Amino acid sequence: MIDNSSCLLSLKNICKSFTIDLGRHKSELKVLNGVNLKVNRGESLAVTGPSGSGKSTLIHIMGGLERPTKGKVLFEAADIYSLNNRELDIYKNRKIGFIFQFHYLLDDFSALENVAIPALLGGGKLSEATKRAEALLVQVGLKDRLHHLPKELSGGEQQRTALARSLMNNPLILFADEPTGSLDRQNSEIVQELILSLPKSGVAIVVVTHDMELASKAEKILHLEKE
Ligand SMILES: Nc1ncnc2c1ncn2[C@@H]1O[C@H](COP(=O)(O)OP(=O)(O)O)[C@@H](O)[C@H]1O
Ligand SMILES: [Mg+2]
Repeated sequence: MIDNSSCLLSLKNICKSFTIDLGRHKSELKVLNGVNLKVNRGESLAVTGPSGSGKSTLIHIMGGLERPTKGKVLFEAADIYSLNNRELDIYKNRKIGFIFQFHYLLDDFSALENVAIPALLGGGKLSEATKRAEALLVQVGLKDRLHHLPKELSGGEQQRTALARSLMNNPLILFADEPTGSLDRQNSEIVQELILSLPKSGVAIVVVTHDMELASKAEKILHLEKE
């Protein structure tokens, strides 16, 4: 049984401003103003809102990629921005997965190698990493594409490879920033279904999307507006 009741991630009064250097003076751009939310284990959250409303900024803050100006991000009750560098790296590499609109696969490595790399970087054995990478690629429907280079894959296949890679280290939560933003409808649906199936196996998902149909399939929706 998966315990869905316990809180995995919580945001407390998250504020973010950027300082814009205008030469003779600086100006402050307020992007997020007091965001509070909770994500339980195995839960799905969609983040929606117009372009520029701070969706990417928020998901970067949740993923340990951007420090908030104010507020706390608690993962399993620990404030991630109070962790030391080594602990923050463990959070980023072991506890969470991330996919973006662009796949960021390494050009010179096969799909299989790209997926295996996160485990190898963590000190995993080559044979075990390869076995798991292969199983993940089969899971995303790419069993016939293991040895293809990224440029030999279609857009949808590249994104499915990136998804497999993000799952390599068994994350507890997957952050996806407009993961289907550059895909056609059919590929978009395949990637969506794969992402939406993760909570069944206990992986929480946070998906930034413009697609209201996708958002409506999540258990919770956070809508951001421009400040
Ligand atoms: N590093 C940065 N420096 C200055 N402004 C930024 C930076 N990152 C994002 N912004 C600004 O913050 C606002 C929100 O950006 P973003 O989070 O990317 O929005 P969204 O993903 O919802 O389109 C935008 O106006 C953007 O220009
Ligand atoms: Mg964005």
